[in-house]
Amino acid sequence: MAISKTLNVNGAPVATAVDDPEMPLLYLLRDNLELHGPRFGCGLAQCGACTVHIDGKAVRSCVTPLSAVTENNKIVTLEGLGTPDHLHPVQRAFIEEQAVQCGYCVNGMIMEAAAFLAAKRKPSEADIKKALAHNLCRCGTHARIVRAVQRAADLAQAR
Ligand code: FES
Ligand code: FES
Repeated sequence: MAISKTLNVNGAPVATAVDDPEMPLLYLLRDNLELHGPRFGCGLAQCGACTVHIDGKAVRSCVTPLSAVTENNKIVTLEGLGTPDHLHPVQRAFIEEQAVQCGYCVNGMIMEAAAFLAAKRKPSEADIKKALAHNLCRCGTHARIVRAVQRAADLAQAR
């Protein structure tokens, strides 16, 4: 029997109905809500491709069961971080640094970096590397990604 639940996704209430309350949040976002920013990578909380924010914290949605979230939690995906007209500083910086090759990891890198910069406004390069240490990039784009996060920190301070 389908279970109904209202969730707060990207600032709006969303009515959902799923058969399995233990289904990963990632599946609901991608398959039911057609939010394709978060990616399925490992499915084991090891790569970061599926990262979203829940109440401002970077969370691996592939291992977050729907039973763990309620309508009181604010879920934000890459689609809700900024808009095409008002990009989040991290989104803008990734474009300006062209910090992407295949792009598979970029959702996770941006969401992890955005949560990190919200808590640490003037990070060192070492801070950034540590914050992104558990987000994997198979293309080896790390140097540009770190530069983009540094640029995002500078953009956020200039706002
Ligand atoms: S798909 Fe979730 S961490 Fe890899
Ligand atoms: S740009 Fe391809 S996995 Fe990072």
